[in-house]
Amino acid sequence: MTLSTRKAQNRLCTSLRDPLAWVCNSWITVWGKYIEWNSQERKWGSCCRQRAELVVRYSALQSPSPVICRHDNMASDPLAGPSGGNKEDEDQLRGDVMDWMSSHQILILSAVGTGVAFYAARKYFGGGVCYSKARLDGKTAIVTGSNTGLGKETARDLARRGARVILACRDVTKAEAAAEDIRKTTGNGNVVVLKLDLSSLASVREFAAGINEREDRLDILINNAGIMMCPQWKTKDGFEMQFGTNHLGHFLLTNLLLDLLKKSGPGSRVVTVSSTGHRWGEIHFDDINLEKGYEPMKAYGQSKLANILFIRELAKRLEGTGVTCYAVHPGGVRSDLSRYMPEAHGRWLALVQPIVQLAMYVIGKSPEQGAQTSLHCALQEGLESKSGLYFSDCAPIDPSPAGQDDEVAKRLWEVSEEMVGLKQ
Ligand SMILES: NC(=O)c1ccc[n+]([C@@H]2O[C@H](COP(=O)([O-])OP(=O)(O)OC[C@H]3O[C@@H](n4cnc5c(N)ncnc54)[C@H](OP(=O)(O)O)[C@@H]3O)[C@@H](O)[C@H]2O)c1
Repeated sequence: MTLSTRKAQNRLCTSLRDPLAWVCNSWITVWGKYIEWNSQERKWGSCCRQRAELVVRYSALQSPSPVICRHDNMASDPLAGPSGGNKEDEDQLRGDVMDWMSSHQILILSAVGTGVAFYAARKYFGGGVCYSKARLDGKTAIVTGSNTGLGKETARDLARRGARVILACRDVTKAEAAAEDIRKTTGNGNVVVLKLDLSSLASVREFAAGINEREDRLDILINNAGIMMCPQWKTKDGFEMQFGTNHLGHFLLTNLLLDLLKKSGPGSRVVTVSSTGHRWGEIHFDDINLEKGYEPMKAYGQSKLANILFIRELAKRLEGTGVTCYAVHPGGVRSDLSRYMPEAHGRWLALVQPIVQLAMYVIGKSPEQGAQTSLHCALQEGLESKSGLYFSDCAPIDPSPAGQDDEVAKRLWEVSEEMVGLKQ
């Protein structure tokens, strides 16, 4: 498949999402109507009983020994003796099965249709796919927040391709368990864990110093870790938690690893996982820690917009170095990302969560599917001219107007430099 066919496929995927949701919705409506009609007109219970009878009679015919059947409404008695091979019984059963099927055509078609629609929806909402066959033997990758969710699946894929993968996580115990699982499933023993707490500038500096001292190269940096809609918490350095972790921690980390990335190039890449949630964000330069008006969603939006603006400005600063960078929206992924939301929004949210989880089961991506756009940006050949862009479903798309503002991107860079102490 050519690159342009893939792009078209991925675009189609995005543009057809709503019609597909409509088709699924229609199927659910038709199915609901059928059940309603069936229960009024034909008695649901008797339909199930007929089907159960047929199954029992089929088992009796198949069984070489007598089948003990306790169904009270059986038309014929399978206890009458071993019936395997009895031609008359077989013909009778075949006729009854055909009768049942023709009198339940709508039921069967609906069931098959629902199954197909459900399967198609799961596939469709899975989104774009990274088709790169690149091997990474001899290369090194860092994935932040890779003990769970899409970070773990991103790390697993990179390990499968032969890379040395460093899981940069704040909880070393959880990360060790993830590393062991990745080693087992990929057969790659070169998967290591290093402690990194992005909500502490000291931890980021310590981590980067260790990498610069011990690693000879760094080919791929995936800034994946994130925290979403938590209560009004602060990082160790007193910054608003989501801006501090999602943006400032990764901003400092990337800057401290840039020399190693450049040295390992050309071809080294930085990928930062943002979100479509950036669309409700703006950069509040007058109150960047949102002390005057904290709202969990506003803070998440600001931090994810900062991810996009950071990559936009970084691409400019990296021109001519051989290192490129990309921002990514992974899609709606089934993960633990919403874990702090009940605490931030009140317990009522816990009541809504099962409904959201059920919906996510159909329209959400698996973590493996969610990792595809990060992998595409890290691996796909020929993406260099797209440095600085924002990707969704493995294709570049426009971020919000605020995410395309070069002036704001430059100003954010300067403010961030001061906040993390890169410039006094
Ligand atoms: N899931 C979605 O639908 C979705 C949609 C759009 C964007 N995203 C973005 O995708 C990224 C991954 O999210 P996910 O869905 O995989 O969520 P997840 O399962 O909650 O994983 C988040 C990861 O980030 C780590 N993390 C949080 N705070 C950290 C800190 N201070 N230092 C180091 N690591 C930290 C977590 O570590 P612990 O396990 O120790 O907490 C965890 O490993 C995030 O940036 C998120 O904003 C996700």
